[in-house]
Amino acid sequence: MVTPQTILTRKTRYAIFLVLTITDGGVDRVRDVVSGLPGLTRSVSSRAPDAALAGIVGIGSQAWDQLFDGPRPQGLRPFTEVDGETHTAPATPGDLLLHLKADQLDLCFELGTALTRAFGDSVTVVDEVHGFRYFDLRDLIGFVDGTENPVGQAAIDAVTVGDEDPGFAGGSYVAIQRYVHDMSAWNSLTVEDQEAAIGRTKLENIEMDDDVKPSNSHIALNVVEDADGEEIDIVRDNMPYGDVSGTGESGTFYIAYSSAPDVVEEMLRKMFIGDPPGNHDRLLDFTTAVTGSQFFAPTVEFLEDPPP
Ligand code: HEM
Repeated sequence: MVTPQTILTRKTRYAIFLVLTITDGGVDRVRDVVSGLPGLTRSVSSRAPDAALAGIVGIGSQAWDQLFDGPRPQGLRPFTEVDGETHTAPATPGDLLLHLKADQLDLCFELGTALTRAFGDSVTVVDEVHGFRYFDLRDLIGFVDGTENPVGQAAIDAVTVGDEDPGFAGGSYVAIQRYVHDMSAWNSLTVEDQEAAIGRTKLENIEMDDDVKPSNSHIALNVVEDADGEEIDIVRDNMPYGDVSGTGESGTFYIAYSSAPDVVEEMLRKMFIGDPPGNHDRLLDFTTAVTGSQFFAPTVEFLEDPPP
């Protein structure tokens, strides 16, 4: 019996995302703090038990070998830059990902503060993003984000490593990218042009028929099928973030959980290189990926009692 980390919650109102690198000499302390994360999350959660606090940690490919002896998750590898003709998905540093989510921001803040205090100088924070739910689960571009996520058993199957890698069954792969939107360019489009970029209607959130949905729309390019023609699902838990004055950055913190990294890699190729090549995702003309990393989120048992 294994216990996956608390990835599959209802959509929370807030999330804090922290991407960290491990400093020289920091490995032992990081191992201790990571191992205490499930217990610390339970403690903070007890202060507001109905607010669905979850603290998830993902470990990057290089950090895995520094932190743990023994076998590695089969699919764990660094995020690879995807370089299209027009747009690039960069690969940026990240040894650890902390995904802290709850219906109350104070809980995410409390857990994040306790963790960064415990890590001390064993880590460097390379990105900290505070995300929030925007109206009826919309992205800042005004479209509902997350509609086609699988639910129930299909969601569990989509994110959980199974018998194909028995030593790591119950774990999940996690990919992240931070996107910065050009809101004035996006807002200068007509609603019809925005709908064509996404492949769904804006207000009612209805998918366009295949005969009218453009082949460079976001959802047309994000369908990946297995050898039998079945769609392969991932679970996205994206959140809008940013400032209101437009002097800083705002956009989407993209985060996707999957049972293998290949699916997300294929989606990124289709978005950035295009399918066929050159036919890139129209959404990318209005938003820029500024980070990109991937991680493995092992089971609670592994975190609390890692191999010596
Ligand atoms: C669908 C927004 C990045 C994969 C959608 C939808 C929206 C959206 C509005 C339609 C509703 C839904 O089913 O969720 C965004 C924004 C992004 C972003 C604002 C970043 C700025 C990505 C990336 C990937 C991705 C990087 C994968 C690498 C998907 C998938 C779907 C989807 C798989 C569902 C397709 C379907 O089955 O209909 N996204 N997305 N998205 N997106 Fe994204």
